[in-house]
Amino acid sequence: PPLYIITPTYRRPEQIAELTRLSHTLMLVPNIMWLVIEDAYQINDLIEDVLKKSRLKYLYTVAPMPAQFKNKTKGPKPRGVSNRNKGLEWIRQNAKTGVLYFADDDNTYDLDLFHQIRFTKRVSMFPVGLVTKAGVSSPIIKNGEFSGFYDGWIGGRKFAVDMAGFAVSVHFLHQRPKASMPFKPGFEEDGFLKSLSPFEPKEIELLADNCTKILVWHTQTKKNEPSLPLDMAKYSNTNLIKLKK
Ligand code: UGA
Ligand code: MN
Repeated sequence: PPLYIITPTYRRPEQIAELTRLSHTLMLVPNIMWLVIEDAYQINDLIEDVLKKSRLKYLYTVAPMPAQFKNKTKGPKPRGVSNRNKGLEWIRQNAKTGVLYFADDDNTYDLDLFHQIRFTKRVSMFPVGLVTKAGVSSPIIKNGEFSGFYDGWIGGRKFAVDMAGFAVSVHFLHQRPKASMPFKPGFEEDGFLKSLSPFEPKEIELLADNCTKILVWHTQTKKNEPSLPLDMAKYSNTNLIKLKK
């Protein structure tokens, strides 16, 4: 069965580097379709170049964050939600079988993960390595059975999991035509998994050797003040001379 990898992305200095690295991981995975969906109003040729170069099957399109959230000055924003919902819509219209997985552009993926999620019947879950104090986000297994979630922040969530910690079968998604991700910072995963109702935590398919192995890490690149313009056209040699102090 095919894997549909939904990757939200947005413009920032490390974007092309992150997508290049992720493309190199996905190039080693058979039978996948990469849905790269950018939080932007226009596509960017530099991204198209990375995707073409990978020779992967892909869709590249945009899905901007609604202005009401983008223009917020205080508090967290619903990152990647428009993008993921657009990916879900594409799958509903274009796929019948297979499995979908939300792969943020900045995380780190073990190739075994893709072998394991491919056989998801409904919803599978597995640990996500964190670079924070909690160390991991994972279902807790007691005597071989699901017994709650471990995460740095539970926040009253029914499904206290990271975006990278679950996969969903396309067939199951078709049986849940209203499933979508809410624009609710911190509750995107929980809201999406709840929208797959009826579905209970005890029905989760536990992967990664009963959740004892880490096959994906929630990594991120350190933020720096962008010192140069993001537009590559401005890096022409004549401009570099002007930019040189
Ligand atoms: C946090 C949570 O810890 C994750 O569980 C969750 O997957 C994620 O937010 C999310 O909301 O998706 P964090 O690493 O802080 O993770 O988030 P980012 O990596 O900055 O963003 C998540 C995804 O959305 C990335 O693929 C990123 O490229 C994209 N994004 C981010 C946008 O499309 N627009 C933005 O303005 C920011
Ligand atoms: Mn991230």
